[in-house]
Amino acid sequence: MSKILITGAAGFIGSQLAHRLHQKGEQVVLMDNFSYGSEDNLIFEDCDFRDSIHRKDIRDRAFMEALMEKETFDEIYHIAAITPLPDCQNNPTEAVDVNVRGTVLILELARKYGVKKVYFASTSAVYENNSDFPSREEHVEYPGLIYPSTKFAAEQFCRAFSTAYGIPVVVFRFANVYGPHIDCLRTTPPVMGYLIREFYKGNSPILHSTGKQERDFIFVEDLIDLALAVRSAEHFDIVNVSTETTVSINAIAELIAKEMDCEDIPLQYAEVAHFWAKYPELYEKPYPISEEMLAHEVLKYTCLSTEHARTYGWAPKTDLKEGVRKTVEFSVDVLRKAGIPERKH
Ligand SMILES: NC(=O)c1ccc[n+]([C@@H]2O[C@H](COP(=O)([O-])OP(=O)(O)OC[C@H]3O[C@@H](n4cnc5c(N)ncnc54)[C@H](O)[C@@H]3O)[C@@H](O)[C@H]2O)c1
Repeated sequence: MSKILITGAAGFIGSQLAHRLHQKGEQVVLMDNFSYGSEDNLIFEDCDFRDSIHRKDIRDRAFMEALMEKETFDEIYHIAAITPLPDCQNNPTEAVDVNVRGTVLILELARKYGVKKVYFASTSAVYENNSDFPSREEHVEYPGLIYPSTKFAAEQFCRAFSTAYGIPVVVFRFANVYGPHIDCLRTTPPVMGYLIREFYKGNSPILHSTGKQERDFIFVEDLIDLALAVRSAEHFDIVNVSTETTVSINAIAELIAKEMDCEDIPLQYAEVAHFWAKYPELYEKPYPISEEMLAHEVLKYTCLSTEHARTYGWAPKTDLKEGVRKTVEFSVDVLRKAGIPERKH
């Protein structure tokens, strides 16, 4: 049995990773500052992490030192981050503080306390400017947005610590993740969470595009299979976590609408320039956000190579329709419990 620290454990991915490791009989220690995560994510049929999770910030050095000293962790899954793109764009110093400095602190303490392996949750967003598909781990064109820039910088520190001290660090580049526990309540939820919430309320979802752009989606349980498979890694590695299959946002909306019996609700197509309208600060003069960059972000195509991931004996298993069905079922329950008014059919 290994003792494993999971940061960001009240979030979408961290909570399910914690649950799976716990089911496998590992000793998991969870932490999260609840800036985005939720208590509901910590309740499972066979366990409840609400009382045991440390409600702390990864940047709290005194707490982290005391925790590392007390627990002697074998492994750390560093999942915590500020993830919404507009939040990072709007508050870059905070994004760097959490996503970069927070990661460096984890690496520093992993070295000091002899942690055997560290896994870091990066993102396919680092490929935002790539034009060769499927994107492979060796090649990243420098990203321009703040969120992927923080993750790309943090990846460099993972590499630096691994090179200098020999700590095996594995960097995951997650594609668009979906599945039960996806956030459908926050101001800017991921696209599937947003579509489910709007259909649930009976609203026409607004897409700031034609909806024809294609993305690579990975089901959270498949992601976790790979997160466990890479535990065999002995050196620094970067691994894409994806399906290498793409689907358009329109097709996703269609699948969700069908699942929710909302095929009569049309999608609305709006101006790309208004994509982050809920964040008016980003449009302020003298330096408003570049319309060209926004358009590129909204319309970009993503497809990640799975070739390297497969060398770990892994392959994605979940059929998109089945994954969407499970996501809808779980999210509708969350929306109901949150008291969101439901469409009358
Ligand atoms: N969901 C996706 O599609 C996706 C895609 C690519 C990469 N990722 C990466 O995977 C990781 C998990 O993503 P998610 O979708 O579960 O996001 P999430 O927002 O649901 O989870 C992140 C968790 O980190 C916590 N957190 C933030 N700052 C913290 C701090 N300073 N101290 C302690 N906890 C803190 C939040 O409260 C939240 O619970 C992130 O690192 C994200 O960048 C996610």
